Amino acid sequence: MTEFDNGDISSTSQQRVTVLQQGNYLRSQMTTLRAFETTTAAFCNAFEHIATQLITAALDLAPTEDVDVLTPTGRTFHGVRQVKPVCGVSILRAGASFEHVLRKAYDGPLSFGKVLIQRDEKTSLPTYLYSNLPKNIGSSTILILEPMLATGGSVSKAIEILKEAGVSEENMIFVNLLAAKKGVDTVLMRFPSLRLVTAAVDDELTASNHIAPGLGDFGDRFYGTT
Ligand code: URA
Repeated sequence: MTEFDNGDISSTSQQRVTVLQQGNYLRSQMTTLRAFETTTAAFCNAFEHIATQLITAALDLAPTEDVDVLTPTGRTFHGVRQVKPVCGVSILRAGASFEHVLRKAYDGPLSFGKVLIQRDEKTSLPTYLYSNLPKNIGSSTILILEPMLATGGSVSKAIEILKEAGVSEENMIFVNLLAAKKGVDTVLMRFPSLRLVTAAVDDELTASNHIAPGLGDFGDRFYGTT
């Protein structure tokens, strides 16, 4: 894992960003995701490989306590276990693509919440439409699931809704596939305790606020609605 290298944000902010190690395997899966001609099946497959790494990196940030276990050889192993339940909160519809990966990766106490935020295609402004969050959400580690971070408008709205529901920013980890630099700066400045895990950070946004070079509309490509 590498720290986000951007001179525009403070070093304290950089420590809150985990970018997956840019090895050849990850880069090849990202290439599949980014290629215009990739089929929906191949897109979903490549996404699952990367999402597994992202969820693992996010769970690495969840709090643990020391625990000793007895192994079958009769020896003691000094290990750790996670101390808080985990709640995945999907920003619909694209965020739901992470849910089955989180289910497979985490076998502790797990719940899911949903937030529906519609981005206006012309203005890129987010409108909050609906949420359904577990009752005990304030005592969980929250993984905010949203594959694309462009301007940061939708995720900022979702974080505000989570804060209103009793979640403290320290307990939120934003799990993201691809971010634009501008979006990273915006959310880290606005939420000074938020942590972000991503697979790649692109330099630009297009005039219509799509990430560039990017991968197009994630939801359309994942759900085959192109
Ligand atoms: N959402 C997407 O699906 N793609 C982008 O490039 C930006 C936001």
